[in-house]
Amino acid sequence: MDYADPKKKSNLVGKILLAAALTALCILVLKHSSTFNTPSAFSRHEAGVTHVLVTGGAGYIGSHAALRLLRDSHRVTIVDNLSRGNLGAVKVLQELFPEPGRLQFIYSDLGDAKAVNKIFSENAFDAVMHFAAVAYVGESTLDPLKYYHNITSNTLVVLEAMAAHNVKTLIYSSTCATYGEPEKMPITEETPQLPINPYGKAKKMAEDIILDFHKNSDMAVMILRYFNVIGSDPDGRLGEAPRPELREHGRISGACFDAARGIIPGLKVRGTDYKTADGTCIRDYIDVTDLVDAHVKALEKAKAGQVGIYNVGTGKGRSVKEFVEACKKATGKNIKVDFLPRRPGDYAEVYSDPTKIWRELNWTAQYTNLQDSLQTAWRWQKSHFNGYGPPLPMAV
Ligand SMILES: NC(=O)c1ccc[n+]([C@@H]2O[C@H](COP(=O)([O-])OP(=O)(O)OC[C@H]3O[C@@H](n4cnc5c(N)ncnc54)[C@H](O)[C@@H]3O)[C@@H](O)[C@H]2O)c1
Repeated sequence: MDYADPKKKSNLVGKILLAAALTALCILVLKHSSTFNTPSAFSRHEAGVTHVLVTGGAGYIGSHAALRLLRDSHRVTIVDNLSRGNLGAVKVLQELFPEPGRLQFIYSDLGDAKAVNKIFSENAFDAVMHFAAVAYVGESTLDPLKYYHNITSNTLVVLEAMAAHNVKTLIYSSTCATYGEPEKMPITEETPQLPINPYGKAKKMAEDIILDFHKNSDMAVMILRYFNVIGSDPDGRLGEAPRPELREHGRISGACFDAARGIIPGLKVRGTDYKTADGTCIRDYIDVTDLVDAHVKALEKAKAGQVGIYNVGTGKGRSVKEFVEACKKATGKNIKVDFLPRRPGDYAEVYSDPTKIWRELNWTAQYTNLQDSLQTAWRWQKSHFNGYGPPLPMAV
């Protein structure tokens, strides 16, 4: 007589149950993994959802822009080669917006035309915000080819991919460095563009390529020329964390914070005999939150077949001395300042006339208190002594 061995039977049932549990687990994991969701959500257009490709979205300005776009319910794809940006910033965004179809990160180099083309063929973008770039004036004078390649040539790659895949809207990150040393202040969009360093020249060439292409295209183009960007997310989720090796080329806010932390012995102010009220250079500092708002307004107002070119600044110049005083108050640190002779190539005064962007896009800077912007950025710096890396104790 045949009979089932109860021990064997329970073993078999156990195995079946285990297999079923494992299968269910696999399905669950797959369903929650981004790769499972990516093709469906990111590869098709959806009514009412704007899918924005944010190049350089792991960087300082791009990550803040991605945060705002996600908050405004847009779909975001970040493409970045992490040469300068931080995966940590992307992780912050992923944790804030974990829902499928909201945010995807693609690690890729915009210099690789084949890879870029593949990204465009696999994703249905409605607009591109092209932030990705190397962006240090000093470095550009030492390594100009890197700048022409990374800025000018890569913009061409992005533009070609947009044209080939019928992506209709481009918001381009340009800079006041394209104006060079204008004699008349404030700088309007009509001020002649005569850049004096490879960074400014590479951006101007990229602008020219976009404008030439646009003559025979119905693409909606917005070119935003930023002045000096400072600050960080008021809610403290994101900040500015350039690579340590880029510090020497860095910007004044980074240098102030490094001095406040004791990483560098103090600040070097170059030039106290300019024809300005206190003898130091004057610049226009724009808070990153305002800057990102200008991008959102540009996206909303972009029209097929039209180009908008706008200065993004406060319209108010602040001297380096004023900046340093604001930084001392914001950090509560008595930063040592050395006053040195002028640096060749620095111009006395640069500030924008932001009338056009106010009139046409209804945008105006809101975060215009230097000390407040620096205080917000300092709060993030203090709690991220190691940038987006693992936390380190900080003696401040
Ligand atoms: N920060 C400013 O004060 C300022 C002023 C004017 C204009 N801009 C422009 O704003 C944009 C963003 O600047 P930022 O300050 O956020 O710089 P950032 O260095 O913080 O960010 C740039 C990002 O682009 C990425 N990137 C660079 N080359 C790439 C490539 N080949 N492929 C893919 N990704 C690449 C980097 O990894 C980085 O994440 C730049 O175009 C810059 O020229 C900045």
